[in-house]
Amino acid sequence: MRAAIVGSGYIARVHARLIAELCGDVVAVCGRTLSGAQAFGIGQAYDNLDAMLRAEKPDVVHICSPNSFHAEQTIASFAAGAHVLCEKPMATSADDCRRMIDAADTAGRVGAIAYCYRGYPIVRELRRLVRNGDFGALWRITGLYLSQDVCDPDKYVWHFSPGLCGPAFALFDYGVHWFDLLQFVTGQPIAEIQAQFSTRRPDRTWHGNPGEGPRPRGEATEDGGVRVDFALEDQADLLLRLAGGASGSATVMALSPGNPNHIALSVDGESGGFDWLQEQPNSFVERRPGLKIIRDRDPDRLDPADRWTAAVPGGHPEGYPDAFRNVIAESWRGMRGETADFPTFGAGLRGIAIVEAAVASAAERRPVTVDIPGADFARDYPMD
Ligand SMILES: NC(=O)c1ccc[n+]([C@@H]2O[C@H](COP(=O)([O-])OP(=O)(O)OC[C@H]3O[C@@H](n4cnc5c(N)ncnc54)[C@H](O)[C@@H]3O)[C@@H](O)[C@H]2O)c1
Repeated sequence: MRAAIVGSGYIARVHARLIAELCGDVVAVCGRTLSGAQAFGIGQAYDNLDAMLRAEKPDVVHICSPNSFHAEQTIASFAAGAHVLCEKPMATSADDCRRMIDAADTAGRVGAIAYCYRGYPIVRELRRLVRNGDFGALWRITGLYLSQDVCDPDKYVWHFSPGLCGPAFALFDYGVHWFDLLQFVTGQPIAEIQAQFSTRRPDRTWHGNPGEGPRPRGEATEDGGVRVDFALEDQADLLLRLAGGASGSATVMALSPGNPNHIALSVDGESGGFDWLQEQPNSFVERRPGLKIIRDRDPDRLDPADRWTAAVPGGHPEGYPDAFRNVIAESWRGMRGETADFPTFGAGLRGIAIVEAAVASAAERRPVTVDIPGADFARDYPMD
């Protein structure tokens, strides 16, 4: 694949590394500034997406820019004939997601979302066990996505600048990953949500350092910075009901000291349960009445259809880049017209619709039904 990357920050580097691992070519990088794209050091540098698309004609564009740019950059890429692998959150509104899906259909191109945690072999195994009825009907689902990313009161990220992040912070940054993981493993859509939001650090100051984005609107500080009133949630506490009847809770938190990426999924069914932690992705705990077993990743135990996700033999740990690479590989297979099970734009839209339901629930202090007109869960989360 001749790939172009939009954005030249943290996740763009991860994509560049994995594109190379998959024997793709990063032909160009488009940044906010030309100097940023040049400093990336891979591919031709641009600061104008249309110019890049015209000159490079990439097979696929990897959108790795701030959330608010995903929709227009994706639509422009489809119009230029490229497939798109878009970072999560797919966009900042469900309406924008629908425009992106329409643009893909019009262009006859494929859109995929970088829901990277689906790529772990153990996650695939858990999905199969659930599907095969190993745990019986599911009753309880519980989870966490805890990050310490913005604990430091002096840290500023572009997400704090009004307009760049969208109507949610923690749920767009972390929550959509966990929602995808939950629905992927259980095979059940989130049907109802009740949310309580908190903002623990409402004062943030932009200083213009790398990664902070352009100067936001706000009150100037004596040292040349800008004080921003940050009103989005940095902690979200959620009550959830799935369409298949399971129910439970989740907390998504951006200020959890000592937790860089603590992602937990715990499920109980009528005949057993399991616990999985992203920080120890090569094992899960299987629970039966009176029994708790740690199951290590074993490629031989994987369903033949999932075996390709285990890149190295048993006993050798795999990690985040391996899972992420699997998701890109599967998305590229879909783009080449092969049968593939990748995170679709439909799954991306579902994540945004769940966040919109949570935002409405938190504002109105009531449970909200997740209603996604025209969505087809079985198509976006196929179990075969
Ligand atoms: N899948 C994952 O695990 C994962 C992890 C981190 C971030 N992300 C997502 O990736 C996206 C980028 O996050 P990040 O952590 O890399 O942020 P970052 O701040 O490290 O990088 C963002 C980059 O986009 C560039 N940019 C800003 N405006 C632009 C524009 N108009 N056109 C082109 N480039 C522009 C910035 O200069 C910067 O290089 C976000 O949507 C985020 O949610 C996903």
